[in-house]
Amino acid sequence: MKFGFFDDANREYVITTPETPFPWINYLGNEDFFSLVSNTAGGYSFYKDAKFRRLTRYRYNNVPMDNGGRYFYINDGGTVWSPGWKPVKTPLDKYECRHGMSYTRITGEKNGLEAETLFFVPLKSWCEVQKVKLTNHTNEKKQFKLFSFMEWCLWNAEDDQNNLQRNLNTGEVEIADSTIYHKTEYKERRNHYAFYHVNAPVQGYDTDRESFVGLYNEFSGPKAVLEGRPTNSHAHGWSPIASHYLEIELAPGESKELVFLLGYIENKEEEKWEAKNIINKKPAKAVIDQFDTPAKVNKAFEELRAYWDDLLGNFVLDSGDEKLDRMVNIWNQYQCMVTFNMSRSASFFEVGIGRGMGFRDSNQDLIGFVHQIPERARERIIDIASTQFQDGGAYHQYQPLTKRGNDAIGGNFNDDPLWLILSTTEYIKETGDFSILDEKVPFDNDMSVAKSHFEHLKLSFYHVVNNLGPHGLPLIGRADWNDCLNLNCFSKDPNESFQTTENKSGGTAESLMIAGLFVVYGREYIKLCRQIGIEKEADEAQKHVDNMVEAIKKHGWDGNWYLRAYDFFGNKVGSNENEEGKIFIESQGWCSMAEVGKEEGMVEKALDSVKERLDCEYGIVLNNPAFTKYVVEYGEISTYPAGYKENAGIFCHNNPWIMIGETSLGRGERALEYYKKICPAYLEDISDLHRTEPYVYAQMIAGKDAFKPGEAKNSWLTGTAAWNYYAITRHILGIQPDYDGLRIDPCIPGEWSGFSVKRKFRGTTFNIKIVNKAAVSKGVKKIVVDGQEIEGNIVKVLDGGDHQVIVEMG
Ligand code: GLC
Ligand code: GLC
Repeated sequence: MKFGFFDDANREYVITTPETPFPWINYLGNEDFFSLVSNTAGGYSFYKDAKFRRLTRYRYNNVPMDNGGRYFYINDGGTVWSPGWKPVKTPLDKYECRHGMSYTRITGEKNGLEAETLFFVPLKSWCEVQKVKLTNHTNEKKQFKLFSFMEWCLWNAEDDQNNLQRNLNTGEVEIADSTIYHKTEYKERRNHYAFYHVNAPVQGYDTDRESFVGLYNEFSGPKAVLEGRPTNSHAHGWSPIASHYLEIELAPGESKELVFLLGYIENKEEEKWEAKNIINKKPAKAVIDQFDTPAKVNKAFEELRAYWDDLLGNFVLDSGDEKLDRMVNIWNQYQCMVTFNMSRSASFFEVGIGRGMGFRDSNQDLIGFVHQIPERARERIIDIASTQFQDGGAYHQYQPLTKRGNDAIGGNFNDDPLWLILSTTEYIKETGDFSILDEKVPFDNDMSVAKSHFEHLKLSFYHVVNNLGPHGLPLIGRADWNDCLNLNCFSKDPNESFQTTENKSGGTAESLMIAGLFVVYGREYIKLCRQIGIEKEADEAQKHVDNMVEAIKKHGWDGNWYLRAYDFFGNKVGSNENEEGKIFIESQGWCSMAEVGKEEGMVEKALDSVKERLDCEYGIVLNNPAFTKYVVEYGEISTYPAGYKENAGIFCHNNPWIMIGETSLGRGERALEYYKKICPAYLEDISDLHRTEPYVYAQMIAGKDAFKPGEAKNSWLTGTAAWNYYAITRHILGIQPDYDGLRIDPCIPGEWSGFSVKRKFRGTTFNIKIVNKAAVSKGVKKIVVDGQEIEGNIVKVLDGGDHQVIVEMG
């Protein structure tokens, strides 16, 4: 069942009923100021950090689920309704929500009055614009009352919910003309305030929640709205809000536009005040001045559109399959940019006060947006590398505001360092910018011990070499990519964290996932060394990679698939000998991508085992059989109910590893089949089961052992976005940036007759046409660039302009 449709021409998903199977959200903002907005206008805004600068209040896991947001209420002759349906939930005559690229447009109509609100954050601004257009579609004059509403958060989102004994006393506001200023704690240590403005005279306002809502009312029926009159309250402590009250009259057929503006301001210490206890409002007025007419707002909106045209213009696919095109061209790239902005901080599943930036997550996310914003990707790589330790290990997480490693979680996740090689080499291949390797980068943010970025990569490589276990395989540490396979943690205390508890010493648990990862990125490291002419280091590194390949073949093969690990006691994990968890996806993915034992048929066997044991209708599950009992030597993985999360859920992030493995065998048909199973646009028809947004990936879909297979959770902030983008564009469509140019090596279903891609690459636009008359899955017979046949399958970088590339498969 569907709840809307894709409007590809406008790059929008159009939701046609407010009662979606879960709140379907969107993100506004591209740099500093961000908002989450659901299809019924729920959500909140923050400046840079969802924990420390939360501007508006939001209560997670609420009843109903999504309650609280930027709401408008209309009282039209006693009929009270909200244009986004919620919170009032009066049945509307018309409802529509269009989620687009960094904007959302929600329209509601009741009794001939239409209210359309466009929400977006203008580029380079610290504010959210809400342009409200009211239209009278009747033949009579309409007189009605409009109330705006939002609730301020007292800045620190965590403290805001906890420290009530203090917080219920501190709230402060100022009201001047049509602007409500929120200035809690501005007096002492803070130099920032927020404001909510409307570009028209108001006939009243409210700034105290209880006065507006009423102590015994709910958002669905605030007292002031029901009574049709504001109380002009001035908040002192308790819960400050911002609500404007406007009396509006519309002639038959008439429209009026209003611009509401939520802004954030930081003042210089010496410019904090305009009079005693009166905040300096000059900077706020300057922002208001930028967006106080519909014309100015429209111009800012056009700039935002142009920004996205540009970002999405770097890779444009024409495959003949509209679902595939809309994912590759629009939504998957969009989601990758959102993961760049948010990492894992704020979504409807991540509460914005928990995790900082993950070392491994951020490196992997990068492969999804490096072609869109290479300069910012470069900066991100350096930030991440700055949290590395001198032995090549790394903090598992760091905080975006301070950019410092997070002591509470620490390090010892032994896959972490290798992902830095992935992000850096992908960055160089995209841009040709080798200078990043010479950049001086600190360790643990200490500049006095800084070394070149290349040295950081070298240390990452040797961190594995220096931490091998008894089988010559990498020690796992606290966990590898799978945070829940905690082989050095033996926990019987429910108050302990699985991921930071290492309570048995001398652990020698080894990971086949890291082993495969090491072979893949070890080879990338070697290739990079050869590019920059350090052959000796390349030869040296090659020996370590060769040793690892041998160790995997010798100790990592279970007969029909790759083992997953050796546990603390040296017992096999992910073996046919095990009762549960006989086979795991991660090592099949990485050892296949590394092509370990390909000639001997190991890759083919492993991937066939994946098909047989892990694949199901909705995607590939993580392990099988699922764990049904707690295994103390495995940790968190065995705590999840069967079929969910890391215990045999379809953890979408790792499905593309199998797709890429399949392409190395040339099985394009199967690779694409896996792609479609988890790709949201193909799941639109089963939205009632899938539940999360049909335009973005979710981290997890319940697996075949779950109570409800096919039901997704945790949409938006997941490495799934980057990896699926990578799998489809680099390995299935086969357009791969490389040091010397664009390598073209598609792996597609044999029945595809071809496709076209427009790819902007280092300043040149390549119009690539792939022709598959031979009906093969893989193999490039001939490439012609601007009428000239070239040798091999790498199209060299040309200096600018548009170029035609015809690729004949065969
Ligand atoms: C979460 C984490 C990621 C981890 C994955 C598997 O997505 O953010 O770092 O690799 O779970 O456990
Ligand atoms: C839990 C989740 C895992 C996530 C981790 C982050 O273990 O299952 O997916 O990566 O928390 O700390």
